[in-house]
Amino acid sequence: MVDIQSVNEKSILEKNIPIIDLDECSSGSNTEGLNKLSEEIGRACRDWGFFQVVNHGIPDASLDETWLATKNFFCLPKSEKRKLNRSSDNPWGFFDHELTKNKRDKKEIFDIGPLHSDEGLSSEEPFLGKTPWPKLLPEFEQCMREHFKACEKLSLFILKAICLSLGADKDHLTDCFFPKHTSFLRLNYYPVDDPLADLEEQDHGEAGLGVHHHTDSGALTILSQDNIGGLQVNKGGRWYPITPIDRAFVINIGDMVQVWSNGEYKAALHRVVAMDKEDRYSLPFFYNPTYSTNVNPLNSINSTRLYKEINWGEFRRKRADGDFANLGKEVQIDDYLIV
Ligand code: OGA
Ligand code: NI
Repeated sequence: MVDIQSVNEKSILEKNIPIIDLDECSSGSNTEGLNKLSEEIGRACRDWGFFQVVNHGIPDASLDETWLATKNFFCLPKSEKRKLNRSSDNPWGFFDHELTKNKRDKKEIFDIGPLHSDEGLSSEEPFLGKTPWPKLLPEFEQCMREHFKACEKLSLFILKAICLSLGADKDHLTDCFFPKHTSFLRLNYYPVDDPLADLEEQDHGEAGLGVHHHTDSGALTILSQDNIGGLQVNKGGRWYPITPIDRAFVINIGDMVQVWSNGEYKAALHRVVAMDKEDRYSLPFFYNPTYSTNVNPLNSINSTRLYKEINWGEFRRKRADGDFANLGKEVQIDDYLIV
């Protein structure tokens, strides 16, 4: 792990993503602080689509508990984990065959849906299903629910700063996330050994990267990572490492913010290299609007409209289908460009 000071110096030399201190404005009531912060966040979104935040207000003790619960989960026997397998109908649970850009990722994941999905969804929504909690770990559910709540709060705060940075009211997009946003928390485990090595099947293909290059499809991603490293962001055709900072969150914008910003902010391509020396873990929280949200460029932006309207539920469904099977070209945000 590196201290913030040395990363800041390095960020000039090696062009690392910006590091933003949220301490100045943690309550959101300090308007001057929020405006300054939104400028910094806007610049980071424009330049990189990625930044790290420190002093985000999530207590050390809670983060430590979440990390411990995550490692305990992935230590369970494969057979126990596979009992919790997600499916194309229920997107929540364990998975070790994920495809990104039609290539298998060298990872295991556990996806946790929003609380209301545990209560059952209405049949008009694109996914039905509850998070299948591991019976062998009684504290796991409560701990993950706490972390989920903390991530919701931090994400909404960042969203407000992004709205301000685009010249809109800070609450302009808030309604898109209520009453039922469709965010999810993912636990990622990137083992050195291939997670499918125990299977007889021969046709699962080689996994050359931890996660193949992609953009995140929703609004924002806020990610906690360990100190191993391996996450990289693409800028101008080159890959830059995202240096782990103790207890920081890596934040990146997704395709929906790209559309809301009318392309002023780009959802950056990123990937994770395959682990070859030590196992790595990361915890991304994908902050997503309600399924019924229709995403259009904000009125506060004066440039010529670049994107057609996108219904988030439809876009999410199309992307998720590509996680399971090679369906040819995966749907991309550029497919919605007005030509
Ligand atoms: C993802 C992702 C990065 C990481 O899960 O979408 O980009 O560091 N993860 O695990
Ligand atoms: Ni990603």
